[in-house]
Amino acid sequence: MINVAIMGHGVVGSGVAEILINHNARINERVNNEVNVKYILDLREFKGLSYSDKFIKDFNIILNDPEVKIVAEVMGGLEPAYDFVKALLLSGKSVVTSNKELVAAKGAELIKIAKEKNVNFLFEASVGGGIPVLRPLVQCLAANEVTEISGILNGTTNFILNKMIVDNMDFDAALKLAQDKGYAEKNPAADIEGHDACRKICILAALAFGKHVYPEQVETKGITDISLDDISAADSFGYVVKLIGHAKKNNNGKISAFVKPVLVSRECILSNVNGVFNAVMVTGDQTGEVVFYGKGAGKEATASAVVADIMDCVKHIDARKYLFWEDGDELYVEKDNSKSKFLVRIKSDDFSSLSDKFINIFGNDKDFIKNEFSKEISFITEEDLQENINKKLAAFENCEIKVLNILF
Ligand code: HSE
Repeated sequence: MINVAIMGHGVVGSGVAEILINHNARINERVNNEVNVKYILDLREFKGLSYSDKFIKDFNIILNDPEVKIVAEVMGGLEPAYDFVKALLLSGKSVVTSNKELVAAKGAELIKIAKEKNVNFLFEASVGGGIPVLRPLVQCLAANEVTEISGILNGTTNFILNKMIVDNMDFDAALKLAQDKGYAEKNPAADIEGHDACRKICILAALAFGKHVYPEQVETKGITDISLDDISAADSFGYVVKLIGHAKKNNNGKISAFVKPVLVSRECILSNVNGVFNAVMVTGDQTGEVVFYGKGAGKEATASAVVADIMDCVKHIDARKYLFWEDGDELYVEKDNSKSKFLVRIKSDDFSSLSDKFINIFGNDKDFIKNEFSKEISFITEEDLQENINKKLAAFENCEIKVLNILF
């Protein structure tokens, strides 16, 4: 018998407990062992459950119980999760987690401890919820040199943008709806400001390229300044706006990474990822593009990935699954210097001269959309570096033209 503890009985933690307890026979059969939930750590009271007798409030009971071999950390947040997980690994227990904040900040260190102690530290649920993506990346794509990863990594922002695109709902109303449906937190900052997606691209990049990428190294912009006018201008040129997490390996061995709202062509598969769904597109030198798609959040989907990691730990109780990346460093991540087209929206009260001024700066061979009512012009630039576009846009400021937004 293998004893397991669960730390946290929130949305994901309760899902993990329910799967392990309600589907115990199925799980035991598949791992050819008996998996027993011995403790559930949570400071709150949970009376009336069939497993209420398993709740404890003291972390040290788990840490000091030699019978507990595997612990699921589903509390979220950096502290106390980091201290707990580190202590558990050091004591020789395997840990699985859904905590992307923890893995993105401390992954290299925790993996190293797991390696030294010959235990497992697995975190499939930290990216893409129920979508199998980390294990396939490390195992099934192992023969590839991964060159690039792009994905819709946050369900809440994808839901909000989708409501803006399809239902013409403004940002505030779409956010409120996401909160009413339980997708967005009361404090939605981590989602709408891009930090959640940033943590996920850091984990994907570390696994794909072998070295830690810290969230503060990733250029991160959320969706809070995306307006219905931006959405509609993008649509006129055949694009949808998506919050994309992207990482790529450059020829010099360094990587570039960002999270920001991006124009996605309607022909790209990512443009059809709607609602709270996530998709991760991995480019391998042998496979070309491979896409992983599914529910990126939610109790059952995320819990299923945590339980699968527990089952993997049971199957590898005396061995270690190979999973490793090195510590990162300051010079490893560099600015993305690839050229791109940009959607620019400009406005002037002197609308009669706006087109001429626009043509003077960007040339007369460019498609643009004029809106006399709002005194705006929207256009797509040639492929160029952002700094070159910024220089051209600076010229607008000198002739009293306001740049309303630039989308990449
Ligand atoms: N808040 C996250 C999302 C959930 O909206 O995708 C899980 O990471």
